[in-house]
This record gives sequence, structure tokens and C-alpha cells, in this order.
Amino acid sequence: MADTEGLKREAAREAVGRYVEDDMVLGLGSGSTALWVVRRLGEIISGGGLSGARGIPTSETTASLAREVGIPLLSLAEERPDITIDGVDEISPGLDAVKGLGGALLREKIVAAASRGGLVVVADDSKAVEALGTCPLPVEVEPFGYEATFESLAALGCEPELRLDDGKNGETFVTDGGHYTVDCRFSAIEDPAALEAEIKRLPGALENGLFVGMIRAAVIAGGGENGGTRVIER
Ligand code: A5P
Repeated sequence: MADTEGLKREAAREAVGRYVEDDMVLGLGSGSTALWVVRRLGEIISGGGLSGARGIPTSETTASLAREVGIPLLSLAEERPDITIDGVDEISPGLDAVKGLGGALLREKIVAAASRGGLVVVADDSKAVEALGTCPLPVEVEPFGYEATFESLAALGCEPELRLDDGKNGETFVTDGGHYTVDCRFSAIEDPAALEAEIKRLPGALENGLFVGMIRAAVIAGGGENGGTRVIER
């Protein structure tokens, strides 16, 4: 297994061991690191552990793996998560994050915000940054009139790019909810809370990938003492 995959798996194991208990309803994140969480939960459940644990998935990909590994699934119509465990694209020392390069940010934010015990994020050390903004900021947009939303995003001082679907000959990428994603490259994100609020004011911008003040803990593998895992709690 490539080293980075090993670190993602390690972060997932540590987070599940620390934060997950019997009978919990778990928000299940999306992306390659979150899928390690799903696999770990499946391993424990198939070994007879974590009785009563159930999941609320944030994407079709996560739902399909969760079913495969035997995690009973619910929706927000039935329950709220006790906690959500998800990946990140960037995480700052103050536990603010950028998410959404995997294309599921709107559902991720809805599930995380509904979680009674908050959001725990899992990452390898390459995601830990001093300040947000080294990767583009994804914004999920309504397809209707997206050209106008695109212009409004550019007016906030970024270089926006409509995300294409690599696997589909350059067609526009469409989220599970039927929306487009615009990746916005800012030279720096100095005030994440202010930028999050500014983007939220644009009617076509359904949600953006800034997760400010929502993260309760980060489990980061690879950057701790002797290359171990470190846990940062709010
Ligand atoms: C999905 O929309 C994202 O928010 C992912 O959680 C994020 O992109 C991290 O993905 P990886 O774990 O694959 O890096």
C-alpha cells in the first residue's frame, strides 16, 4: 500500500477507536480517507463489535461501500448523527478546513452541521497547512445561471474554474445532488469566516468548502512525534 494510503488508514483507525461507540449514529464522510473509516467500521461490525452502530452517508460512493461492508444505513429523515467522521483537503492549526475536492461538500456540510457531537476529521499530514488557500476552494453551484455565479465568484478575487469530469471526456462534473462545482483559486484565504459568509451571499452558490468553527477534532497521521499520529481537539 502506498505510504499515503497507509497514513489515511492509520488516521481512520485512530479516529474510530477514539470516538466511535456502540449504538452511535455516524455521519459517514466522502473521499479516500473517509472510505478507510467506512472500511474500519465494517471490519469491527463484521467481527461482532460496535453493536447498534448505523451510518448516514454523504455520497452515493460512501453509501455503496457502507452497504458492502455491512453498515446499516439511515437518512437524516430518520435520525441525526452523534458524530460525523470525514476527510479534509486542508486543515489549519485552528481547525478550520477546506473540503470538497472529492465533490461531495454540500452533503458533507449538511450532515456535519446536523451532528450533535460535531465533526471529527481524518487526514494524512500532507493536509495540514499553516493557512488555508494552498488548494482551490470548491463551491457547489446551481447549474441554472451558473455563468453569472461564476462571474460573481471571480469578483471576490479568485480564479474560478468549472470542474470537469475526468472520467467522462471532459463533460461538466455533476454532484450526487445534480449541481456543478466551481474550484476557486485564491492567492490566500486570510479570513476564512468572512470569505465563507461572502460566498454564501451569492444566490447560485449553494455551499462552499470552507468549514469554519465546525471541527471538533482532527486526527492527523504522519506528522506526530516520530512520524506518529497526532490528535488536535478544539
Ligand atoms: C469530498 O467532497 C471531500 O470533502 C473529501 O473529504 C476531501 O476531498 C478529502 O478527500 P481525500 O481523503 O480523498 O483526500
